[in-house]
Amino acid sequence: MKATAKSPANIAFIKYWGKKDPKIRVPLNSSISMNLSNIYTVTTVEFSPSFERDEVDIVNGEFSEKEKQRIIEHIDRIRKKAGVQYKVKVLTKNNFPKGTGIASSASGFSALTVAGAKAAGLNLSTKGLSILARLGSGSACRSIPDGFVEWQAGNSHETSLAYSLYSASYWEICDLVVIISKKEKKIASTKGHSMAQESPFLMLRVDAVEKRIKQIKKALKNKDFSLLGGGIEAEALNMHAVMMTSNPPIIYWLPKTLEVMLAVQKWRGEDLEGYFTIDAGPIVHIICQKKDANKFKERLTKISGIKDVIVNEPAEGARLVNQHLF
Ligand code: PMV
Repeated sequence: MKATAKSPANIAFIKYWGKKDPKIRVPLNSSISMNLSNIYTVTTVEFSPSFERDEVDIVNGEFSEKEKQRIIEHIDRIRKKAGVQYKVKVLTKNNFPKGTGIASSASGFSALTVAGAKAAGLNLSTKGLSILARLGSGSACRSIPDGFVEWQAGNSHETSLAYSLYSASYWEICDLVVIISKKEKKIASTKGHSMAQESPFLMLRVDAVEKRIKQIKKALKNKDFSLLGGGIEAEALNMHAVMMTSNPPIIYWLPKTLEVMLAVQKWRGEDLEGYFTIDAGPIVHIICQKKDANKFKERLTKISGIKDVIVNEPAEGARLVNQHLF
């Protein structure tokens, strides 16, 4: 059977960095994120007795052998769960070109999970899909439920999953994704998670994360934008302090990254309220209220060297769609 899914990327307000159980991607701490409306993946999966070998391809880019292998490993999990032995055809398409520096593992593995499970005849709940997506890539489990999402760390395979805190229409805030460099990141997050263990700050971070989660949840509940933004920015710097103090150190920022971070803080002190957050790469995400998104975009495009700004609103989670890619 053939099935197709569309799934968003997500931006973490509270980050996932470091694993309790690397083999099954159980994280050291819970995290909170928002699904993104304008960065997504569409994937079609088909299992058929007429296929002679597994085939994996991407429409607008190229997969390395390592990436293909990781996708097939995930397909194997689905085949095993469904008792399916047929070979597979997977075709995937991002709405952003590969190599923009935008991480695609969250949207990619969540779309693969939803399409793959359906194509294999599995009938999984949102909870079940989130657990399965987590095995492909940790942050992918947060792209399954709608809108604003919490990934409860849990302490076992069954208890580590994400669920929706609020729907996408709950709050009109935006994430402006500022493309600074189109190069692939230097250290993949899978490696970065294990290197975090070397940082003397990792456990300090984990011990204090509960307090920051409470702050973000309170800000979401009360729609208190300043409280939310302050928490998001502090959290990003906290995670990057762990990255920078790993051994060897990981510095994901480029000079332009810092330039945008400082501009956001300067504008905030003047007349425009926004807060930055950064994942495992040089791209800066600016969280602002929807009414201010255009103003930010105008100012950002005046900074030399900025390649693109993608404006995102909160989005639904992964969905089956009717239009197949093949
Ligand atoms: O899911 P992974 O292994 O790509 O890890 C994601 C890590 C960060 O993007 C840096 C943080 C997060 O919570 O998304």
